[in-house]
Amino acid sequence: MSAEFILDTPIVRAFVAGVRATIAGASTPEAACEEIRPLFARLLADPDWLPADYQAASPESGMGGGIGQWLIYRADDGSLSLFSLVVPPDSETPIHDHLAWGLVGLYCGAQDEEIYAEQNDALELVERRSLGPGDFYVLLPPRDDIHRVRTTSVETSVSIHLLTNDTGCVWRHAYDPSSGEARPFRSGYVNFACDHEADKR
Ligand SMILES: [Fe+2]
Repeated sequence: MSAEFILDTPIVRAFVAGVRATIAGASTPEAACEEIRPLFARLLADPDWLPADYQAASPESGMGGGIGQWLIYRADDGSLSLFSLVVPPDSETPIHDHLAWGLVGLYCGAQDEEIYAEQNDALELVERRSLGPGDFYVLLPPRDDIHRVRTTSVETSVSIHLLTNDTGCVWRHAYDPSSGEARPFRSGYVNFACDHEADKR
């Protein structure tokens, strides 16, 4: 047993093994993402692999609004993480960045995503898109790295994130929507404690 697999099931292990092999053999992040697409689509289409716990809201989350970020897998070296993000109806994340490339897709419910760009020390809304179950996108920072998601369905939305850092534990940024000012932001995970001494910004 490895401490890397918080949710240790054959499906999660097979997915992570496929992703790691792909990343090791890919020449660029773009190429890796292209190859991971079918694996990720299959994971999003499978209704049975993610336990109810990992689809539950969390009143005390670092994201606010009852948003739960549940760790499924993290590489020991911090180079990869897989987690679910649970956003209750009418809740929205802060505007935030990720600082790593990867794929993000919707598992259930519906979300609106607003993408921002930093322009002259301010934030500008550059795109808005709606996502339903099975929809996913590739994140290749700095492009499209700053966004906010909001649940638009009457049920809670659950999205699956595969990113090439330990997203919940690294210090990243949240942004004030009106001033565009960035502040240090660490979202944490509901089911895994980050090392608070290491990894200080
Ligand atoms: Fe995000």
